[in-house]
Amino acid sequence: MPLHPVVHHKASAQTPAEQDSLCGSVFASRYMSKPIPAYRMPEESMPPDVAYQLIHEELALDGNPQLNLASFVTVWMEPQADRLMTENIGKNFIDLEEYPCTAELQKRCVNMIAHLFHVPAEQGQSDAVGTATVGSSEAIMLAGLAFKWRWKQARKQAGLSTENPNLVMGSNVQVCWEKFCRYFEVEARCVPVSEKLLVMDPQEAMAYVDENTIGVCCILGSTYNGAFEDVQKLNDCLTKLNKEKGWNVPIHVDAASGGFIAPFLYPELVWDFRLPLVRSINVSGHKYGLVYPGVGWVVWKSQEDLPEDLIFHVNYLGADQATFTLNFSKGAGQIIAQYYQFIRMGQNGYKAVLTNLDKICQYLRKKVEESGRFKLFSDDRSVPLVAFGLKEPQAYDEFDISHRLKEFGWIVPAYNLPPNAEHIKVLRVVIRETFSRDLCDMLWRDLMWTLEELDRKTPDSIHHARELLLERNRQKHKAFAHMERQKQKTKGVC
Ligand SMILES: Cc1ncc(COP(=O)(O)O)c(C=O)c1O
Repeated sequence: MPLHPVVHHKASAQTPAEQDSLCGSVFASRYMSKPIPAYRMPEESMPPDVAYQLIHEELALDGNPQLNLASFVTVWMEPQADRLMTENIGKNFIDLEEYPCTAELQKRCVNMIAHLFHVPAEQGQSDAVGTATVGSSEAIMLAGLAFKWRWKQARKQAGLSTENPNLVMGSNVQVCWEKFCRYFEVEARCVPVSEKLLVMDPQEAMAYVDENTIGVCCILGSTYNGAFEDVQKLNDCLTKLNKEKGWNVPIHVDAASGGFIAPFLYPELVWDFRLPLVRSINVSGHKYGLVYPGVGWVVWKSQEDLPEDLIFHVNYLGADQATFTLNFSKGAGQIIAQYYQFIRMGQNGYKAVLTNLDKICQYLRKKVEESGRFKLFSDDRSVPLVAFGLKEPQAYDEFDISHRLKEFGWIVPAYNLPPNAEHIKVLRVVIRETFSRDLCDMLWRDLMWTLEELDRKTPDSIHHARELLLERNRQKHKAFAHMERQKQKTKGVC
């Protein structure tokens, strides 16, 4: 057996230059000592083993996904799921007519999710309304569009203006909500959070709702600190306001992370279709749905919540087919993998995994609290994550800690909290399936070493290290330099 990957190609097809490696090792081939084609497609082909090895080596410089505690996304699945995904890698999900079994798996997943979210029983066993998407962002675009259409229809019927739709949400929303508003011309009305309450206050939100409000977004698992917004209270406040004003403003729950947590860890929490005003919900399959990146879900409470106008019918794939996603083509693998997880894990399996994550989360919270060095910014009943910041001001800050932790391989983001609380900086550790208690202990050890090191540094050396880092980042992100210039130009304008 060769020790190194071997280049397989016929000796007769080789140019003299290619014959430089008679031993057949990729690493003895001329490609290894030449610059890699970067910004122009090369004229000549190269052997597949060489192309593989070059890319493989280059990607080794990426962070390790398992140590990426910034991300909510699943980084590991069982080999059987990997196998199913690989077997189906060439299937385009949109070809429903050609791949009816795959389409059936999507339908089953939509129904299972809708059932978890307590869709009314009259929807039957298999009639839930929803679709797979690339992630929660696409799901949110679709849900937002459904709100906009329904609002427009009602306004038109009443002979009222459809000029100025707005959407009410906390200023702690994930960026995809702002994208929705900008891309689809809806005014984003952000309810500021406060230092005391880092998520939207439902009562305060009522002041932002008017006759042009297409809906209110409520987050089950804020991206900033994992906190669940109070959907039940929002439902009560909005029901009262709707009644007083004669409006019909609905609620969408952004359950990107919380949608696969609350049903298993907090089944008594009422946040979903049990509440009359909740008309649609999104959830990321690739977060706590335990599937690799590339799958999200949106479900509506009933058919009438998804306006017919948003459903397109095409027949160029051989039969009439309804589509209501933003993209046409997409791989089928993630949907198949989601179905695998649902039937493989069952509700008890999800509950067991999440219970472990919660235990590790509580373990880390305790360490953070007991260290006396940090203040917690996450709740104990939330998405399993720990958000914390320095208790006392130091010469260094959370960004310096985050940067130093990278030297150990850990990716622990530092960021500012949303407007009104933006002076607070936090570090956030997302607890995912592969983050064992053992890894948690190692992270803690490295964090303590980092503090020890930073405590000994002078303010000047900390400042100098920051300058160096900024310069390095500037060089790394040269490609985005034009954006930076644009930002400078608009400073002071907005
Ligand atoms: C609350 C919330 N909504 C939406 C999103 C976007 O999700 P996705 O990455 O699945 O598009 C995220 C991502 O972290 C999130 O935390």
